[in-house]
Amino acid sequence: MNNTNKMILEFESKSQNESFARTVIAAFAATMDPTIEELADIKTAISEAVTNSIIHGYGDCKGMITMRSFIRGNEITVEVEDNGVGIKDINKAMEPLYTSRPELERSGMGFSFMEAFMDDLEVKSVLGEGTIVRMKKRIGKQIIKGYSQQTEQNMI
Ligand SMILES: Nc1ncnc2c1ncn2[C@@H]1O[C@H](COP(=O)(O)OP(=O)(O)O)[C@@H](O)[C@H]1O
Ligand SMILES: [Mg+2]
Repeated sequence: MNNTNKMILEFESKSQNESFARTVIAAFAATMDPTIEELADIKTAISEAVTNSIIHGYGDCKGMITMRSFIRGNEITVEVEDNGVGIKDINKAMEPLYTSRPELERSGMGFSFMEAFMDDLEVKSVLGEGTIVRMKKRIGKQIIKGYSQQTEQNMI
């Protein structure tokens, strides 16, 4: 495999670090030559996961958040981990529009956005120990699709 890379970033659960994490993941993913849309998808999904760790994972307490990312070929994996309160019922938490903090005017759409913008979403959580959100996205799918369509046309 010629295109592999990895990075690990640790930062405090402060709201200003959400844009810091977005910028870092964008710079890291940029080496894969993504489209502007693919990059925006990754940034949005990672922002949602980091915001969740800050707001829900740690709440009023401060803690550390770890963001890990791996590139293998045309696929990028991003993990966002906190050691916060954890999630009691993951299936319920992942339902569109579900939020445990309606008083904060949360939309309850964070996990739905992560699911929509990435190709794969996995959530692991233990109450009182923390949460890991792992997302994967393949870059350059449109080009491959366009290429195969063109190839098919050429064969007809
Ligand atoms: N890192 C986390 N730690 C604890 N709870 C979480 C975490 N991420 C998500 N949750 C729970 O999952 C729910 C749904 O998350 P999400 O879809 O992003 O909606 P929202 O953030 O708007 O509430 C949250 O309201 C919260 O209860
Ligand atoms: Mg959210």
